[in-house]
Formats: sequence, C-alpha cells, structure tokens
Amino acid sequence: MAASMHGMWSSRLMFILATAGSAVGLGNIWRFPYVAGENGGGVFVLTYLLCILLIGLPILISETLLGRAGRQSPINTMRTLTARSGVSSLWQVIGWMGVLAGFMILSFYAVISGWILAYLLEMARGSYALIAAWLGGLAGSAPPASDGASAEAAFASLINNPYRVVGWYSAFMLITFWIAARGVGRGLELAVRYLMPALFFLLLALVAWAALTSGHFQAGLAFLFSFKAEQFSGDAILMAMGQAFFTLSLGMGAIMAYGAYLPDRVHIVGSCATIALLDTGVALLAGLVIFPLVFANGLDSGEGPGLMFVTLPIAFGQMPGGQLFGLVFFLLVTFAAITSAISILEPALAWLVEKLQVSRPLGAALVGGMAWLVGLGSAFSFNLLADFQLFPGLTFFDTMDFVANNILLPLGGMLIAIFASWKLSRGLLAEQIGVSPVTRIWLFLARFVAPAGVAFVFIMFLAG
Ligand code: TRP
Repeated sequence: MAASMHGMWSSRLMFILATAGSAVGLGNIWRFPYVAGENGGGVFVLTYLLCILLIGLPILISETLLGRAGRQSPINTMRTLTARSGVSSLWQVIGWMGVLAGFMILSFYAVISGWILAYLLEMARGSYALIAAWLGGLAGSAPPASDGASAEAAFASLINNPYRVVGWYSAFMLITFWIAARGVGRGLELAVRYLMPALFFLLLALVAWAALTSGHFQAGLAFLFSFKAEQFSGDAILMAMGQAFFTLSLGMGAIMAYGAYLPDRVHIVGSCATIALLDTGVALLAGLVIFPLVFANGLDSGEGPGLMFVTLPIAFGQMPGGQLFGLVFFLLVTFAAITSAISILEPALAWLVEKLQVSRPLGAALVGGMAWLVGLGSAFSFNLLADFQLFPGLTFFDTMDFVANNILLPLGGMLIAIFASWKLSRGLLAEQIGVSPVTRIWLFLARFVAPAGVAFVFIMFLAG
C-alpha cells in the first residue's frame, strides 16, 4: 500500500526523529533515574540494557514493520494483516489492549508533564529575576540558591494542591490534543526536527557540568554501572523490563501507528537501531546528570517519582545563571513530553478517525475528553485520593503505572513479536524487511528470545 490516510513522514530522518521523539520523553529523564534509584542502580541498569537489546529492539522492529504493512491504526492494521496472512482475527486483541494501555499511560504521563509545566513557569520567573538583577546590578534581588529541604518543600506544596495539579495537568492535555488535532505532518515534524537535537546537546552540557562541579560524578557512575549480585530480585528485573518497554514506547501500538506513516523505501532495521541507541543514550545521560547531584547534596537515591523535581532545582539554584539553564532544560523536557504524549494518543485517535469517519480535530476532542477523565484519578493520587488504594500499597497513579508498564506493555510486545515473526505471511514479511543475515538475526530474536524473555521475567516475578 502506498500511503496512509492519516498522512506520511516526509523522510527517513523525520521518521527517526518522530519515533525518537516518541521514545525520548519522561521515561528517560524522569522515570529511568528514579526507578534505577529505587532498585539499587547497577543490576537494574544492566538488566535494562540487556532487555533493550534482546527484547526491545526486536519488538521495535516488529511493530514498525507491522505498521507499515498495514498502514492503518493498530486495530485495523491487525485486522488487515490477519486476513491477508490467513490467521485468526483474534490477534486484533493487540490493538485493543494497546488502546486500553494508552489511556492508562497517558493518565499518569500527563500529570507528571503538568508538574513540568509548573516548574517551567518557576524557572521563567527565576530567570526574569536573574536578568533583572544583572541589568540593574542589584545583587540582592537575584533568586536565592535552593537547598535540599526547600526544594522538597516546594515540590510537596505543588503536588499536594489538587487545584494546581489539575490545572497544569489540563493545560498539558490541551496542548497535546491541539497538536494531535493538527495531524501527522504539520505540527509534529516541525517540532521534532529542532527540539530533539537541542535536547540531546543540552543534556551533554548538563552531564559535563555535573562531571566538573558536583564532585560526585564517580559515585554516580558507580551507582549506575556497578554490579552487586545481592541486589538481584524478581521485582528488579520486572521493573527493568517494564522500563525497557516504556522507554521505547513499545507494546501498545504507538510505534505501529508511526510505522504506518513510514515511506516504503526506508530501511527498517537500521532506523530502529538508531532510535534505540538515541533513546538509551538519553536515559544514561540523564542518570549521569541526576545521580551525581543526588549524592553531592546528600539526597536519597530511592526518593521515587519526585527525584527529578527535587534534585534538578537544587542544581540549577547553585549554578551561576542556573535559572536560565533550568528554564531551557524544562522547556526541552516539556517538548520531549509532548512529542511522546502525542504518540500515546495516536492509536486510539487514528482508530476513531477510521471508524467514525470524523475529522482529526473532532477525533482528538473525543479521545481527549475520555483520556482527561481517566487522568483525573492520577492527578488526585497525590492529594485528595492519596489514601485511596486500588491495590494494597498502590494509589490510582501507581496502579496505572504498574499495570500498564509491567504487565500490559510486555504482554502486548510479546504478542506483537510472535505475530510478526510466526504468523505474518512470508510474502508480507519479505516485502517489509527483505531477507538477509540481519533479518535472520531479527527473526531468531523475535521468535524465541523476546517471547521467552518476557515469559521468564513474568515467572521470576510471580515466583518472587
Ligand atoms: N517512551 C516515552 C517516554 O519514555 C513514553 C511513551 C510514548 C510511551 N509513547 C508510548 C510509553 C507508548 C509506552 C507506550 O517518555
């Protein structure tokens, strides 16, 4: 099939940037460091890297090729491909599970993104004060450097206030729906073209700063990469695998939807390898920014979801001109979050447009309204509903995160790998990725290693 009704990426580079834009997001900068911190560092990180290479990359390729072979929303792509391959249409469950997982992920994703918007405003205020002080030579009115305690207090006062959280959360949802409504070509490509490289260079600058000034860079490196066998647990490897799926946007059809807009001539394996490399690089760099600062300021590496919101402001508060640096940083994280959030919405939105034959703006409004309602549960999980537990020890927010990332995404990804490598007709497969030694490696990983890996991790987890 030549083109998708939803639009097409204009080049290979645009596919890579858009998909890297989906992959690189809060998962890398916010979630990776804090989950690594909660799980003790080294063992978690190494397991995560193994999961990316042996499970994530093969599934990334599988999703992309299925999407391009079907050229529709994941639900209808699976319908078309099962029919053309002569296998049960039950495989369509991949598409439906993905839509469900998408609502769950967006629910907590947009709440965190709202916090980022709030921090962006803070940094803008601080920058304004800083510039005013520079211009007026008024040393006294420069923003005060923040210490650990005041940064934690500022964060707590944000998330404990339901009005502020819901306000910022809604603002982020509105931005996301607005861009999604504009369609594949116009908003998205333009944004990712400049923002992704800029984010990458800014992170490098921050790493350099952490290395030169924190005095604890070695400790950060050691935390991320030293292997301590006693940290090994079923929980840690489940979290590592969940993180690998989350960070590559796998298992729910987001990549399948993006693959549907990929021009025919582009080489899938090489593009996907580039995307995985960019994504992993950004996560590790974010860890190398945050952990040296955590140790330098005597903070707790197991802090949890607040890690980035407490440590980075401290660092920015202590750097010369740090408020400006912080402003740019949170601006770029905001765009990283937006380019990811749009992709979480895309499977449901594309399906609605196909199914109801509505325009993208109307589809975005419908899907958006539903997603907004689900997300309220996550927005209130830090204040009004803080004591409400859906499962023992898990708030609504925690439940969305845990069930989607550690169960639905790996399960969906496993089914996608199995379908692409075992069930898809040989002709369709050859059309998408050809036949070569590289294809055979992918086939082996997708047929055996990835499904067995997911199954193994599930069993390890259940066995405790
Ligand atoms: N990968 C993104 C991140 O790391 C989040 C994301 C976007 C995602 N689309 C997804 C996660 C689809 C799971 C499924 O921030």
